[in-house]
Amino acid sequence: MRDYFVEQGPAQTQAPVCPIVRSLAGQTALVTGANSGIGRAIAVALGKAGANVVVNYVTREDAARETLEEVQQCGARALAIAADVSNEQQVRDMFQRTVDELGALDILVNNAGLQQDAPFHEMTTAQWDKVMNVNLRGQFLCTREAVRIFMRQGIRKNVSSSAGKVICISSVHDVIPWAGHVNYAASKGGVMLMMKSVAQEVAPLGIRVNSICPGAVRTPINTEAWSTREAYNSLMKLIPYKRIGEPEELGRVAVWLASDDSDYITGASLYVDGGMTLYPGFETGG
Ligand code: BGC
Repeated sequence: MRDYFVEQGPAQTQAPVCPIVRSLAGQTALVTGANSGIGRAIAVALGKAGANVVVNYVTREDAARETLEEVQQCGARALAIAADVSNEQQVRDMFQRTVDELGALDILVNNAGLQQDAPFHEMTTAQWDKVMNVNLRGQFLCTREAVRIFMRQGIRKNVSSSAGKVICISSVHDVIPWAGHVNYAASKGGVMLMMKSVAQEVAPLGIRVNSICPGAVRTPINTEAWSTREAYNSLMKLIPYKRIGEPEELGRVAVWLASDDSDYITGASLYVDGGMTLYPGFETGG
């Protein structure tokens, strides 16, 4: 059991200078589905914050290379690894290669996810299984490998106060029901309670597990919701803050959640959604 008891809190000291801190210097992060959208922005942001980054992808190797180059421009070491997150052996091999080539693992960002939408009565088992396999089973398999590594490593005191951080990319749809997207909402609801249950289990080991839950963000997964004036106006009815999110904003949140600045946060769902979860209909109604 970790024991941080002290009779008095630490003395508050005034820093004499304002150094530029790369909050993740010396750490290694693995980001799944890092070749596009939110995953790509997070991989680049982690690299800018000083972390070495594994760029996982399953298709579109060219896009993964682009992410890789962007991360490397930040001065970080980076590695692109192809692996299907729903395939147990491929996941194990990816984590093994990460440790072999980069020496450690400190941060996992479970970002890989997809939608296969259909009216519920027409949804096929293939559509159900695909979404569950990537969005939920994939997060389980990757989190399990990461936790195993974090347990072996323990706390690397020179780089972080915790023994490891898992960030699950969930969605506002882990609490907002979504007609026409039942498989997706069910997978994200699953991610939410997986995240919280794992967080509870591994907190005594010094491992932090949290979710970032994006609302509408400008990425390829939802192009039809923002790419025309009509669609954008209709989307704004669901967003009290009246703008779509940009992938880079998720990158900044992920850096903070992976850093020691958020060291006392575990088991939390952080909604980054311009207020989409605030029952927007009640802005005027009720
Ligand atoms: C979905 C997007 C959607 C957003 C808000 C996300 O989880 O992937 O397609 O625009 O939630 O509804």
